[in-house]
Amino acid sequence: MYLYQTGRQQELSIAEIEALAPSSSLKIVDDQFVAVDQAIRLKHMGGSLKQAFILDELADSSTASIKRRILSIDPTHLFAAEDKKYNFGISCYGLEIADNDINGIALELKKKLKKLDTPRKLRVVPTKNQALSNAQVQHNKLFDRNKGAELVLVKGRDGIIYLAVTTDTQNLDNYTARDMQRPNTDTFVGMLPIKLAQMLINLAKASPEKKGYVLDPFCGLGTVIQECAYAGIAAYGTDISPEMVRASEENLQWFTELKNVPANYTIETGDATSHTWSEPIQAVATEMFLGEPLKSLPSPEKVHELNTQSNQLLTKFLANIHGQIAVGTVLAIATPAWRIHNSFSSVISVDELQQLGYTYASFQHVDSTDLVYIRDNQQTGRRIMVLIKK
Ligand SMILES: C[S@@+](CC[C@H](N)C(=O)[O-])C[C@H]1O[C@@H](n2cnc3c(N)ncnc32)[C@H](O)[C@@H]1O
Repeated sequence: MYLYQTGRQQELSIAEIEALAPSSSLKIVDDQFVAVDQAIRLKHMGGSLKQAFILDELADSSTASIKRRILSIDPTHLFAAEDKKYNFGISCYGLEIADNDINGIALELKKKLKKLDTPRKLRVVPTKNQALSNAQVQHNKLFDRNKGAELVLVKGRDGIIYLAVTTDTQNLDNYTARDMQRPNTDTFVGMLPIKLAQMLINLAKASPEKKGYVLDPFCGLGTVIQECAYAGIAAYGTDISPEMVRASEENLQWFTELKNVPANYTIETGDATSHTWSEPIQAVATEMFLGEPLKSLPSPEKVHELNTQSNQLLTKFLANIHGQIAVGTVLAIATPAWRIHNSFSSVISVDELQQLGYTYASFQHVDSTDLVYIRDNQQTGRRIMVLIKK
């Protein structure tokens, strides 16, 4: 079993995991972690920050009991070889334990491991605010058993304490490079966050093994195409604007050369409401037009107008593509969602979707009609619709 540390919007992270590990038994541990019986490649997941292999489940959350269990840990679970230098540290989530106690346990473990017949050169990475930062884990390579280890303790909602060892963590520098270093970036069209692009691709159940292209019919600067290239999936981007098509072609040329990945993509100009796509489509992953960036919340009338336009565009696109994809094709679509009181502007109804020939994908642990991606300070968020062609 593995623990996955989920992103800020846990529902979306859970939906992504369900799409990637459909047969697995997923258990929600708390509002930051889920347990899954499969190893999923974190590098291609947008919604999970850390993956850790579960070593044990403990019933007693007292510091003394946790210390006893950690000091009895089998060193082969932490380090690959015996005679090397290693860094290690401990992160706790949801436990009432002071940093001093965490660091004290780590130092005692260091002493104990040094006394073994096959001693190691160990250094403790100090924990602040209960857990090591992603930067500490990355910098000290604590996810790599040839370099170090991070022990993770998570207290679940049910009182069980999961003891795990980190097996992978999101590489934030790599994400920043894939985002900010692109030749063409544009804050006006509002580029899709890289992690959300990965989530859309996964929610659409796209895969390098499936035949056909992942279509992004509103491709903008090509974020979805780029992340498909990164995952080895053929991608097909179209956009109504020839400038956007040129810009995304430039971005993709830069990216495929930089990462030395095959340029398995096609980009062309096309109106999503009337275009005929010439390549076979395995899945749709896209972010629709979000409208102009808003500094303050528009009036209710303006929201109504923007929302109506967006829903019309979505309806026309869904009607146009319906005859061009096979039954069962999954479409993961980010549409704009404007804040209204404590809720969000509405999207086309389930009945309208039925009439257009689509249903919502269903998830076991989240409501598929209520997936919204928004930052606290944003007025416009994104509603993530995961639809299936009937
Ligand atoms: C929010 S942007 C997509 C951004 C993109 N996901 C990215 O990361 O750069 C929406 C795009 O939809 C395009 N667009 C608007 N109406 C369209 C239509 N009817 N058909 C195709 N593209 C359209 C715009 O030109 C714009 O590039």
